[in-house]
Amino acid sequence: MGRTNGHSLLLLRLVTLFLFYGAHDLIVVVVVVGGEEEEPYNSAVGDPGMRRDGLRVAWEAWNFCNEVGAEAPLMGSPRGADCFDLLQDESGGSGDKVVHRVSEKDNKLSVGDPFSGEEEEKESITNVDLYAAAKEVYLGKKCEVDDDPPWQFWMIMLKNGNLDTTAALCPENGKKVGPFRPQPGRFPCFGSGCMNQPLVYHNYTALDGDKLSGGLFGTYDLDAADLEAQNVSYYAVTWEKEVGKGGWVFHHVLRTTRKYPWLMLYLRSDATQGFSGGYHYQTRGMTTIVPESPNFKVRLTLDIKKGGGAKSQFYLLDMGSCWKNSGAPCDGDVTTDVTRYSEMIINPEAEAWCRPDRLDECPPYHTFRNGTRVHRTDTARFPHAAYHVYCSPGNAEHAERPTTFCDPYSNPQPQEILQILPHPVWGEYGYPTEKGEGWIGDPRTWELDVGAMSQSLYFYQDPGTPAAKRRWTSIDVGTEIYVSEDAVAEWTLSDFDILISKRCEKSHVSLI
Ligand SMILES: *[C@@H]1O[C@H](CO)[C@@H](O)[C@H](O)[C@H]1NC(C)=O
Ligand SMILES: *[C@@H]1O[C@H](CO)[C@@H](O)[C@H](O)[C@H]1NC(C)=O
Ligand SMILES: *[C@@H]1O[C@H](CO)[C@@H](O)[C@H](O)[C@H]1NC(C)=O
Repeated sequence: MGRTNGHSLLLLRLVTLFLFYGAHDLIVVVVVVGGEEEEPYNSAVGDPGMRRDGLRVAWEAWNFCNEVGAEAPLMGSPRGADCFDLLQDESGGSGDKVVHRVSEKDNKLSVGDPFSGEEEEKESITNVDLYAAAKEVYLGKKCEVDDDPPWQFWMIMLKNGNLDTTAALCPENGKKVGPFRPQPGRFPCFGSGCMNQPLVYHNYTALDGDKLSGGLFGTYDLDAADLEAQNVSYYAVTWEKEVGKGGWVFHHVLRTTRKYPWLMLYLRSDATQGFSGGYHYQTRGMTTIVPESPNFKVRLTLDIKKGGGAKSQFYLLDMGSCWKNSGAPCDGDVTTDVTRYSEMIINPEAEAWCRPDRLDECPPYHTFRNGTRVHRTDTARFPHAAYHVYCSPGNAEHAERPTTFCDPYSNPQPQEILQILPHPVWGEYGYPTEKGEGWIGDPRTWELDVGAMSQSLYFYQDPGTPAAKRRWTSIDVGTEIYVSEDAVAEWTLSDFDILISKRCEKSHVSLI
């Protein structure tokens, strides 16, 4: 299963130590490395490090509660893919050919259209939300790479943060609710139709000389005349790679406006089957082995060029999982399944809402790596500045008070969110320890001990229940620009990989 990365990890360590000790102390380095046992890792993604010429990438767009609601005119169901194989020129010349597996007709499939050669249940053909889920599975079949285990694609995720409270489109903690009065400060909406899906334009990947490139772009402004205008919402993702060399670089741009002030754009590695974080339908993706805390790491290179303003929640990893408050795994019952999110916001302008005088915004306790647990009331020792905010699931009957409950409308089911900030307590896991690290002008390759970090975090369960398995079905990077007009974020992501310690792999092979 997967591929071995032990060698490159060891090399990385060697290089790190070499830099640390300096050239004249090389002998020390050798001793240190020699004494250390090499820890073998397997990749948990289909395309480790984004290096495969034959790219597999898909996109999905979500409304406020991760559904479709209504398709944008002429755009089809908001799922699409760009998947191709590169046929090598046998003569050794420059006649390599890009052979696409997903046609324009596939990408434009719209609710009501049958999938070719398939028998679907009638409901998933006529219901706009179920149709998008079925389309993802259909595209997954076209893109699937027949490895062992098989995998489908990276996933670009777009989300519109507008909520029309009068439209009654989103449930409250998983339960259907009627319309309620607008709350403009909390839920932006310019009026009827504000929850619309975006216009999506696709440049199929093409080969130019030795360079492969393609992209996706669009806007939420359905009447936009000029996508470059300042007052028009915009997103773009382009991908490029040199044939046979290096890896794919994904370049992202996101712009908010007065009408669309809250937008999200991520590149996700989702599980190849089961649910993925925040999504309650069968998903397709790139993660062949769902990583479980504490035994995995994530490696990636992130170069942030524009931050997206003060309220850009730029996630150096956003991870989604799901378990019930009883600790049981989720089963699709949206009234008891709880989405769990863990996110580090690396925007240095993000402040800690968790403070000694605002304990309702803090998790009940912090666990240091050595296992020492400190309660949030222990003002001297609890690292308040390490937490942006914590909120309890809306259905947590025994949440420790005071607490703030998470927004009940922005997921198909209740959610729990733990957002952390750069701080020395995360340094042991390879995360930034100071504000500004890895931010604009400071591109970095991170190797994050996400498994150990996420194992140490507080998440709610009912008292006396067995600890849930923390299995992260979605791991992504990108930004959520929270209610800001005319903010622009721009970044590139490359080298993405999820690494699972081989020693622990046996307990991880079961897929959700
Ligand atoms: C799409 O292709 C057009 C024409 O080549 C180009 O101008 C544009 O920058 C491309 N955009 C993306 C996002 O790939
Ligand atoms: C953007 O500004 C132009 C020129 O002022 C105006 O015509 C257009 O309606 C505006 N668009 C939006 C979406 O506000
Ligand atoms: C664990 O680490 C914390 C923070 O560094 C420290 O205050 C505490 O004394 C340590 N506990 C033990 C048992 O080493």
